[in-house]
Amino acid sequence: MTRAQTKSELFYPISLDKIIEKVGKKNGRKRPDYTQKSFYEISGYPNVKEQINEYGEKIIRVDGDIPVDLPIENQRRFLFISYDQTILSHGLHKYPAKFFPELPRWLIKRYSKNGDKIIDPFSGSGTTNVEALLNHRHSVGIDVDPFSRFLSKVKTTPLNKSELESSRDKLLQSILDFKPSLVNMDAIPNFPYRDNWFNKEIILELSYIKEIIEALKVEDDIKDFFKICFSSIIRSVSNADDNCTRTVIRKKLNKRVYPADALTKFAEAILTNVPKMIEFSKRCPTDITIDFPIHQDARSINFPDGYFNLALTSPPYANAVDYPRTHQLEIYWLGFENGSLTPLKRKHIGTESVSATDYRTLHKINVRKADNVIRRIYEKDPRRAYIAYKYLFDMRKNLKEIYRVLKKNGYYIIVVGNNKIRNELFESWRYIMSIAIGIGFEVENYFASEIIKHFIKVPREERINTDWILVLKKR
Ligand SMILES: C[S@@+](CC[C@H](N)C(=O)[O-])C[C@H]1O[C@@H](n2cnc3c(N)ncnc32)[C@H](O)[C@@H]1O
Repeated sequence: MTRAQTKSELFYPISLDKIIEKVGKKNGRKRPDYTQKSFYEISGYPNVKEQINEYGEKIIRVDGDIPVDLPIENQRRFLFISYDQTILSHGLHKYPAKFFPELPRWLIKRYSKNGDKIIDPFSGSGTTNVEALLNHRHSVGIDVDPFSRFLSKVKTTPLNKSELESSRDKLLQSILDFKPSLVNMDAIPNFPYRDNWFNKEIILELSYIKEIIEALKVEDDIKDFFKICFSSIIRSVSNADDNCTRTVIRKKLNKRVYPADALTKFAEAILTNVPKMIEFSKRCPTDITIDFPIHQDARSINFPDGYFNLALTSPPYANAVDYPRTHQLEIYWLGFENGSLTPLKRKHIGTESVSATDYRTLHKINVRKADNVIRRIYEKDPRRAYIAYKYLFDMRKNLKEIYRVLKKNGYYIIVVGNNKIRNELFESWRYIMSIAIGIGFEVENYFASEIIKHFIKVPREERINTDWILVLKKR
């Protein structure tokens, strides 16, 4: 084993007291007590009020948990304010376009019952599955991304309190004992542009953290939990922009990462998340099953006809988030890949990895409004037009599969927004709804959920700050 020695030993040991003080302050943030405010009451729901948005439309604002029997009229606009994004295991890791927990919790309670079987065919970070579990429903999460399945498994696996606490304490002690010379240089992972993404001190610290997790003498589930805590700090100690879904280095951002940052942030992450995981584990029922099968795809689901009572999902957007690229540093450090991510990208619906032969001609999906937009995009950019077409083609396959695996009278609830492709408004929700009707679904209801962080003024027809919730029923 070779050992590294650097001048940066000066930055160590780090101060555990300071970290504990910081974590304590963070955990001290309280949700506002909305019951004290004089909200307009709709049928006696204290956390629901009607208000007018900046376009002069009436919207229903719901603060916190959404009442199960909330009256919903077709095409109503809602503004849901979430307080639970980081409770229990929900906040273990960032994930682009993840559900706020109140939404799947509400839909699960409204459209299924205890003991039912639920599928999320684009399960991402497993928010649906966490809520299904906590609400006594069996669930399956399908995602082509290995990082997503790993994260979801960790978020839905209850752990033993004393093992968690003693492992945390061992890890904290090892962090205090850190010296660059302790790092096993042979164990440092190699991946494309590693030394551009990370400063050399950080590479040593991250590698050391990985080693001390592996050295724990505990079951794999506990190690996996700490690996997710490890993964959750990787972006912030890299040289990449923390706030961009793509992993990119921006010179202008002038981000500074210092020696000891990885150790400090990891210590913060485990001090924050161990109590949340303990609380989650306490609340977990023991007679509920959860599965994140590998080698499955939202377009080809390996479950029998009529197996599920409810399907609930937020699919990717066309041409919007490149998930493998978003999580590439985490994927490399966790050892899921060490080279090109293109084969993984190709599995994703909405992918930009398409070949030139695919977009030589204009393709039609046979939904009038969609075909009009695709044609307009084609005139500007045939490649993007093909990506948009292929997205709807793949979503049709998914809708057919879900129709097949749902029981009669089961619901498929899809939360999906719009996006812009070559400056053309691409109304995914509208096209998906038309395709669903063509397959045999009945549209029971659809309504809008405003996305608060995009609450900005843009002309009405261009507004993309809304998700649509489609409630489709298998007849
Ligand atoms: C919007 S995210 C879902 C987020 C999720 N609702 C949550 O709360 O974390 C969409 C997911 O679809 C996955 N995905 C893309 N193509 C897929 C496919 N062909 N089959 C299954 N999952 C796919 C992506 O990996 C991504 O995790």
